[in-house]
Amino acid sequence: MTAADGDLLERAQGIAERAYAPYSRYHVGAAVRASDGQVFEGVNVENAAHPLGICAEKSALSRAVAEGYGPGELEAIAVTASPCGGCRQWLVEFQLDRVIYLAASGDAVTTTPAEFLPDTFEL
Ligand code: THU
Repeated sequence: MTAADGDLLERAQGIAERAYAPYSRYHVGAAVRASDGQVFEGVNVENAAHPLGICAEKSALSRAVAEGYGPGELEAIAVTASPCGGCRQWLVEFQLDRVIYLAASGDAVTTTPAEFLPDTFEL
């Protein structure tokens, strides 16, 4: 893993404590780095109506979009958990070059959206 990707994973781990996860008590942090070096952090935000909660990856990517960044401008995302199926579709949408995540084993893994989700749906 590059030093920059290691730093991104540390940002994800640092922000995870701000997760709003009173139901699962499972805190997830994510950090997206844009090609220009800007970093956007996100956390999972749960709801009493459970399906309405959002994942840390979507929260970080939404922050990047709100700041004017989109597909082609986002280089890497680091996540403190293995991304769920829905988030994998988001990673494909935003064309991240690399995904760094903490696997259940505790190992940091670097992969790509295409490896995570081959033969993706496209509109
Ligand atoms: N979660 C994420 O934030 N990202 C993922 O990719 C996996 C799951 C959150 C959702 C929920 O708040 C908690 O982890 C337990 O599923």
